Amino acid sequence: MQFRTLCVLGMGYIGLPTASTFATNGLRVVGVDVNRHVVEVLRNGEIHIQEPGLRTLVQAAFGSGNLRVAEKAEPADAFVIAVPTPILDDKRADLSAVRAAAETVAPCLKPGNLVVLESTSPPRTTVDVLAPILEHSGLRAGSDFFLAYSPERVLPGQILRELIENARVIGGVNRASAEAGRDLYATFAKGEILLTDATTAEMVKLMENTYRDVNIAVANEFARLAERFGVDVWEAIALANRHPRVQILRPGPGVGGHCISVDPWFLVEAAPEETGLIRQARRVNDEQPAKVVARVRSALGGLQGKTLAVLGLAYKADIDDLRESPALEVARRLASEGASVMTYEPNALEMTAAGARAASSLNAALDGADALILLVDHRGLAELPPTQAAAVMRGRIVFDGRGVLPRDAWEQAGFTVHVLGVGGPLPLHGSPSDPPRGAPRASAGGRDARDLSAVRGDAPRGSGEGTSNSASTPTPPLPLKGGPSAAPRGAPRASARGRDASEGKGESPGSHA
Ligand SMILES: NC(=O)c1ccc[n+]([C@@H]2O[C@H](COP(=O)([O-])OP(=O)(O)OC[C@H]3O[C@@H](n4cnc5c(N)ncnc54)[C@H](O)[C@@H]3O)[C@@H](O)[C@H]2O)c1
Repeated sequence: MQFRTLCVLGMGYIGLPTASTFATNGLRVVGVDVNRHVVEVLRNGEIHIQEPGLRTLVQAAFGSGNLRVAEKAEPADAFVIAVPTPILDDKRADLSAVRAAAETVAPCLKPGNLVVLESTSPPRTTVDVLAPILEHSGLRAGSDFFLAYSPERVLPGQILRELIENARVIGGVNRASAEAGRDLYATFAKGEILLTDATTAEMVKLMENTYRDVNIAVANEFARLAERFGVDVWEAIALANRHPRVQILRPGPGVGGHCISVDPWFLVEAAPEETGLIRQARRVNDEQPAKVVARVRSALGGLQGKTLAVLGLAYKADIDDLRESPALEVARRLASEGASVMTYEPNALEMTAAGARAASSLNAALDGADALILLVDHRGLAELPPTQAAAVMRGRIVFDGRGVLPRDAWEQAGFTVHVLGVGGPLPLHGSPSDPPRGAPRASAGGRDARDLSAVRGDAPRGSGEGTSNSASTPTPPLPLKGGPSAAPRGAPRASARGRDASEGKGESPGSHA
């Protein structure tokens, strides 16, 4: 089946790259958005969101003459719906944008057209919500027009490449619809195209993100346990991940973004009695900002009147997206407890949390701060030289919510370093006793006292979606205890960031958005 014209509804993180990619591959595309500002920005040849390579792609699409933008759907051979599907305050799916988009498509539908829903949606949305609205056209889904669901799995930061290369699942309301979907995406897709039914395709997307959410929740519980038992969770995870069939994700200040922190609720809403584990995982991850605030409060002996530099607000590293970001929640809570909070989000300088102020530079955020709180391992923040912070900060307290700062370097610069998931030293045999004279000094991270210096398995800086925290992390090789590469006792430990500072950010397979 051949498609010449396409109407894409929703010019956001998904719709804009998708429309532009189709346009640069020869389809005549109209990109539709109900937000007039978005339409105006695009018409001026600009873009309203940040994504590597997107500006060039969009300009190429406009330059080819194949892309236009409009405020209303227009007749076309195929329609792709990529509008938001957030959750309401009570955690139910808000399908109002999907419904509204479908209502504008229905009057444009002609026999033989294809409609594809890309928005992440609760099970049976395509069949039970979308089809009936589109059938107001008088045409029947599956027989008069083709209808399919195709989940988007791109990773923000790598959307343009993944859009083309990822395997794509296309679920039709019948076989012919799935095949029509395959023919459309074959225009540019280099990854495998896998056909199924619409509800399975919806479930696939929700299962992928729920799987990650549940696994991040268990990592966060491990971090809490590690703090309780005087263990370094980052080291413990690195060691556990040496098991050939174990891949624990990374703990962090919570799960954000509008996918992983949202999509599991679609399953909970659809079948509350079957989703106890999924709901509990959501709760665990939602509690993380409060856990971070508690650690900071205890490190500072109270928050009232303290000046805090909160670094990073996005929901994960190296993006500008703050939606559902746990870092925002941490900053808001710190401010609500009386701290003077200066936030610094390098990818969205003007953004800040309720009650906080936005710093226009890193130094402006750090200037006069009692403590530095790292919540997102953005490039440039994770590598911040401690001497730079020491030069302008008033206090010498650091809280690392991502487990990425090189603790030794910060300690050597005079800082007390607190790390999420790293407990303080516990007494041997459960009885409180002072360390013998001359014993190694207990570090802020509580590791030196137990001579764990040979194990340094910090995983590469992660990226996983969803979180300013989640990343699945392939475990790097660990130095052997006492082996040739192990540091002698008492020698400074290897950088906590180990290899990744030099190797750059490694996206792990399976990280997603
Ligand atoms: N961003 C991601 O990384 C990602 C990844 C996978 C799946 N998704 C899913 O894709 C969908 C879209 O996400 P996004 O990140 O592109 O959202 P977005 O908020 O960036 O963009 C959506 C756009 O749709 C527009 N819109 C809203 N209602 C409309 C309507 N009735 N008609 C036309 N335009 C309308 C909005 O103005 C907005 O510009 C969501 O369901 C999301 O869960 C997103």
